[in-house]
Amino acid sequence: MEQSRETFGSQIGFIFAAAGSAIGLGNIWRFPYLVGMYGGAAFLVVYLAIVLIVGVVCFIAEVSFGRHTRQSNVGAFKSVNKAWAPAGLIGILAGFMILSFYSVVGGWAIRYFFQAFAGYSFADPAASADFFGAFVSSPLAPVIYHGLFMGATIYIVYNGIQDGIEKYSNIMMPALFVLILILTVRSLTLPGAHEGLEFYLKPDFSRITGEVLLAALGQVFFTLSLGMGSILTYGSYLGKDDNIPYVSTVVPLMDTLIAFLAGLIIFPAVFAYGFQPDQGGGLAFVTLPAVFDAMPAGNLFGGAFFFLLVLAALTSAISLLEPVAAYMIEEYGWTRNKAVLIMGTIIFVVGIGASLSQGVWSHITFFGDNFFDFLDNTSGNILLPVSGLVTAIFVAWVWGSDNALREATNDGAIKFAWGNLWANVLIKYVAPILITVVFLSSIGIIPVGI
Ligand code: TRP
Repeated sequence: MEQSRETFGSQIGFIFAAAGSAIGLGNIWRFPYLVGMYGGAAFLVVYLAIVLIVGVVCFIAEVSFGRHTRQSNVGAFKSVNKAWAPAGLIGILAGFMILSFYSVVGGWAIRYFFQAFAGYSFADPAASADFFGAFVSSPLAPVIYHGLFMGATIYIVYNGIQDGIEKYSNIMMPALFVLILILTVRSLTLPGAHEGLEFYLKPDFSRITGEVLLAALGQVFFTLSLGMGSILTYGSYLGKDDNIPYVSTVVPLMDTLIAFLAGLIIFPAVFAYGFQPDQGGGLAFVTLPAVFDAMPAGNLFGGAFFFLLVLAALTSAISLLEPVAAYMIEEYGWTRNKAVLIMGTIIFVVGIGASLSQGVWSHITFFGDNFFDFLDNTSGNILLPVSGLVTAIFVAWVWGSDNALREATNDGAIKFAWGNLWANVLIKYVAPILITVVFLSSIGIIPVGI
């Protein structure tokens, strides 16, 4: 059956949208804090390996699946095999949970953008940490910033102006990249930078545990926007002649480069200024002001950086809200406007809980985590990998990896050097088995010890 569906004007449109979705707080905020918590370079090595072996492999699967079915998440599963509809639902739940805390962090970034006017000079590292702690734990201000961020996300998706925002933001992304390069140089030349470099680049493999593997796996899905239909949905807009293997390598490559550089900014500064690398979600926010403070026109650089970070976060957030809204439209026949407003509002309300769990509600715990960390850990460490596993199995075994390979190569018209390896080995066995092994090792069933 021929379905007409609007496609991106060109392949570059897909790359813009997918890179906009992938590059965001996951690279600048989440990645460095996980590196800091899970042993530095050892985490980095595991992460890079998983990007290659699982990330790119699943990315190709999701894009092909999306372009073939021309549907978003749940619809895509259904159109191949009705019984698998619930598989798409895991991803929708993940997106819902992720956006509720993602928007809170987006709000923090807005707050730090405004800090440019007062300046980023805190008296000392402790003062920077105190500032962050006092802000995020206060009951009102971070909720208002979260509301601003979520409001902007709802506004964009409601008005269907994603394309405009994506184009606009992707013109700005080279600026973010240049800024990141400048900050990298500044940080690497700080006195005492080498200790941070060592932490970040010299692996101590004894630090690798099942927990580290799982955190790295979850972060790969998180940072590449895999496992909830963001990339699948964008794939559904990809033109029939576009080159799936190419776009599926370029986007992860850019995303990985940005994350890697974020670490090169943060860790030298962490050690140069005596911050705690394993402090968790405050790491980037506490450390970056010290880097801005150490450069001429630091307020300007800092303000520009957080402005661009908010933009990058917005293009990721719209790709999180879109599949959740699409689900309500497709499954329950809601109008688009109703779906965006209602789901966006519920996500905002859940996010208020996440924000308050940094302060007044910090005593309320779920499986030992406050509500924010519970959302972050459950979605990242469980829902995304499970959904990624299910998608890989579905593409390889239900839809069929031969069919997938035909889609990925435009019926053989495109050269995909490792296509056979991808179809017969990687997506069929390596990715699903690796994800399963990481799960089992993280709950102690398969021991990892080196
Ligand atoms: N990848 C984005 C980031 O790193 C976040 C994101 C957008 C995401 N869409 C997603 C994460 C889908 C998981 C699934 O900031």
